[in-house]
Amino acid sequence: MNNNFASRFEPLFNRAYTRDDFFYFVPREERDYNKEWAKRLVEDRIIYYRWREDTERGGWKRFEAQAARITAHGGLILEICAGPGAGFAPAVLMKDYNARICLSDLCPTVLREWKKLFDGMDNRPPHVEYTALDVCDLPFADNSLDVVSGSAAVINIEGDRDRALREIYRVLKPGGLFAFDLIFVTKEYAHTLPPEALKIIKARFPAAFWDTLAVFDGLGFSHTETIRTGEWSNKDDESTLADLCRSLGVSLTFSALMNYCVK
Ligand SMILES: C[S@@+](CC[C@H](N)C(=O)[O-])C[C@H]1O[C@@H](n2cnc3c(N)ncnc32)[C@H](O)[C@@H]1O
Repeated sequence: MNNNFASRFEPLFNRAYTRDDFFYFVPREERDYNKEWAKRLVEDRIIYYRWREDTERGGWKRFEAQAARITAHGGLILEICAGPGAGFAPAVLMKDYNARICLSDLCPTVLREWKKLFDGMDNRPPHVEYTALDVCDLPFADNSLDVVSGSAAVINIEGDRDRALREIYRVLKPGGLFAFDLIFVTKEYAHTLPPEALKIIKARFPAAFWDTLAVFDGLGFSHTETIRTGEWSNKDDESTLADLCRSLGVSLTFSALMNYCVK
């Protein structure tokens, strides 16, 4: 473990934890329903290939603007729902290899794979830590972090998403930054769909229609900036949602929004 950097996070924890290869606030064992995915993550070396794509082939540049904002803010960064791509973290590291980032996820295998990758590098990023946690119950003291960031994170939170958002607000320092992106079907686009098809899709996939802004009204951020970063259609996508849409003779256009919220 990179003891120097770990010691920056340790005083911020607000409860007991297990410290092994890194910090655990959830069981070391993978949850039953996640075991198969976790196994594939390791066997197919998904994280290794994602990192290579991002760094050697320049994939990180899709997040260049976001990384510039996050590194300009600086300080202690918590990347939530890091997953196989680690969200904005690779781009942030490409901008500033000295960035101080704690990768976090509910899935310990994700973090073990990231740690294995970085530990095996000759020039590993010097200030990266790993914490297995539930973003709905963040184990940090109030007002302790400078940045919370997450890409494709908020939409994928398992559990009570509103609670997670309140937790993120709580742990940020005053002036701290919450940077996250979201893809969802806007109300304007939804209203162009045949009403019966819309009703069926919405009943099965409510999160696809989740409108961030309403939830944020009550959190207390002093400043929120939302930037539309593009549109994407699920016409040719391979997913159960896309299959359902095709069976109903429609496709969905998603708007991608980047949000910067300052506490
Ligand atoms: C599809 S990934 C998100 C994409 C990811 N940021 C990336 O760049 O690849 C979703 C991740 O969120 C994690 N996750 C879901 N619910 C969570 C929670 N309540 N707390 C922490 N992590 C969570 C999952 O374990 C998974 O690794």
